[in-house]
Amino acid sequence: MTTVAQAREIIHAASHVHFFTGAGMSADSGLDTFRDARTGLWERVNPQDMASLEAWQRDPEPMWAWYLWRAHLAQKAKPHAGHKAIANLSRTVSVTTQNIDNLHERAGSSDVAHLHGSLFAFRCSSCHLPYPQDIELPNTPVERLSPPLCRNCGGSIRPGVVWFGESLPQDHWQKAEENIRSADAVVIVGTSGSVWPAAGLPTLAHRQGTPIIEISPQRSELTDLATVWMEDTAAQALPKILDL
Ligand code: APR
Repeated sequence: MTTVAQAREIIHAASHVHFFTGAGMSADSGLDTFRDARTGLWERVNPQDMASLEAWQRDPEPMWAWYLWRAHLAQKAKPHAGHKAIANLSRTVSVTTQNIDNLHERAGSSDVAHLHGSLFAFRCSSCHLPYPQDIELPNTPVERLSPPLCRNCGGSIRPGVVWFGESLPQDHWQKAEENIRSADAVVIVGTSGSVWPAAGLPTLAHRQGTPIIEISPQRSELTDLATVWMEDTAAQALPKILDL
């Protein structure tokens, strides 16, 4: 039986399908992943310089410029057929994503847990008050931009993303745990499975015997957990297995 047929069987038998996605889910919408050879963001940018609280406290301007540029790219990107297939699946669907873009929501998915935050949420880096004001996004990459200041305490406004060494948002983590435990099928899409604690979530499903489908063109650190590994891309594989 082909992997497509095996995967379709698993989806067909399920009533609640949980999708656990990473940067590979957004790759087919034109957004770079982190660790793909040559094109990965971390091939070009040192995460310690651009995704750590220490770097922000040392000099927020390069990071502020980089996250606003990424927000511009994410806003320009369009959800692909895979995002839409997830949103239109005629089952109970829940999504946990490590991605900070909003492509799942723009495709129509509503129950999305963002483990690593969002490019489109901003807050004060001192008093943590959300910053709801519109922020103008650059349409060309710039080296430095100075973040606005909090009206409440004067602290610098920061991106609402989780940097290395920071804790994950508890409410989103709890939702992700509940969903991945209660689902009767899990589909892992486009993640290397190399960043914890997020990468530990699929193990919760594996431990309780939930069938797991993985979609990724290369093996990942999670492939051994998969009942079926589809060596394919998100935009190609998801429509093939979800059009029930
Ligand atoms: N379709 C599906 N999967 C793809 C595609 C595609 N078109 N292109 C690449 N992939 C796969 C790669 O093979 C790889 O397994 O997506 C995965 C991307 O892995 P990473 O770049 O490590 O991204 P991710 O797993 O989401 O990283 C996790 O690391 O740096 C942090 O916060 C960042 O959320 C991110 C976390």
